[in-house]
Amino acid sequence: MNRSATSSRRTSGGAQTLAREYYTKPELLDGERRQIFSRYWTMLAHRSEVQEPRGFVTADLAGNPVLVIRDRDGALRGFHNVCRHRGALLEERCRGRLEREAIVCPYHGWSYDGHGRLVGAPNMADVAHFDRSAWGLTTISVIEWNGWILGCSDRPAPEQQAALEQLALRTAAWRCSDLVKAASLQYDVAANWKIIFENYSECYHCPLVHPNLNRLTPYTDSENVLSQGCVLGGPMALAEGVETMSMTGSAIAPPIADLSSEARRQVWYFTVFPGFFLSLHPDYVMVHRLSPQDVDRTRVVCDFYVEPAAMARDDFDPAPAVEFWDQTNRQDWHVCELVQRGARSTVFAPGPMSNLESVVAAFDRYYLQALGHQ
Ligand code: FES
Ligand SMILES: [Fe+2]
Repeated sequence: MNRSATSSRRTSGGAQTLAREYYTKPELLDGERRQIFSRYWTMLAHRSEVQEPRGFVTADLAGNPVLVIRDRDGALRGFHNVCRHRGALLEERCRGRLEREAIVCPYHGWSYDGHGRLVGAPNMADVAHFDRSAWGLTTISVIEWNGWILGCSDRPAPEQQAALEQLALRTAAWRCSDLVKAASLQYDVAANWKIIFENYSECYHCPLVHPNLNRLTPYTDSENVLSQGCVLGGPMALAEGVETMSMTGSAIAPPIADLSSEARRQVWYFTVFPGFFLSLHPDYVMVHRLSPQDVDRTRVVCDFYVEPAAMARDDFDPAPAVEFWDQTNRQDWHVCELVQRGARSTVFAPGPMSNLESVVAAFDRYYLQALGHQ
C-alpha cells in the first residue's frame, strides 16, 4: 500500500514497468540474492526478541537460514544456521533461549560456543589432521539499527548504510528501540517480491482496492519526501476525526510520547530497499519484511510494535489495527497475485506509469542499478 498523489515533485517521467523476465525468470533470483539480498542489510528481528543472554532468533537471509544469538556479554552474533559437520540445521525454532552456553547440533552433537567456535565434536579426536579450530560456524554481519537487528552476509552497500542512518534520525520520535512486539502476521504470497514492493509504493490502487483505508487516509492527501535512492516514502494525512489506521479509526494506544502534533495526524510510510517497509502510525509502528522464496513466491511477515506501557495495560487490545492491516494486506496480496498471473502471459509487456507511480519508477530504477542492469 501507500502514498502518491498531489505533490509537485512527483512525476513518473514516462517510466514503464519492468520487463516480463524480471517477474518470471527462475534464474533471476540467484542473481538477486548474490547482487542484492547478500549486499543489503536485511531485517531479521527486533531487539526486544533477543534481549536475554543466550536468547536467539532464526531467520532467512538472502535465501539462507541464519541464527542470531545474544552472547553472555550482551553482544549480538550472527551465523549461518548450518552445522559444519554434515550440514544439519542447528536450530529449528523461530526464537527462544539456548538451554546451554553452546549451540549443539541435534544430529551428532557437535557444539559451538557464542563466538561460533567449534568446542565439542564427539569421536573426532582420532581423526587424522582434524583441526577443531578450522570448523567454526560461518559468520554473518549483524548490527542493531533503530531497535531492529539487521544482518548481511557480504560487504554491505555503503549507500544503504547512509540512508539507514538518515532514516533513524527521521523516525527518532517513534523511539522504535524501546517498542515491543504486540502482534505478528505471516503470509505466503504467490507473487514476485518486486510486485509487492511496487504495490506498496503507490496509492493509485487505493480507492478501488482499499475502500476502508481510503476513507481513513484519502489517497489524494499524501506526499513523497524521499523520492529516490534506497529509502523512499512520505506521509499520508489522517482524515478528520480519524486517530489511526484501524477498523474503527480509533487508536489502540495513546500516541507515542515524543510525537509532534503534526505527526499525530499522519501515517508515515517508508520502503527500505530491498526487503522491508516501515509504517509509522501515531500509536503503533508496523513493519513488513519480504523474503523471496522463488521467482513467483514471497513470504511476508507483518509485525506490530507499541510502547511497553501500552502493552502492560489490562485493556490493551491491538486487534482493531491488526484486523485492519490483515484485511488491507490480503487486498494487496490479491492484486499482486493478479499481476504475477498476468506476467505469465506471453503478451505481458511493460506498461506506462501514471504520475501517481513515481515511487514505483524510483524503485525500479534503483533495482536495475543494484542488479547491475543499468
Ligand atoms: S550434522 Fe551436525 S553434528 Fe553432524
Ligand atoms: Fe495497497
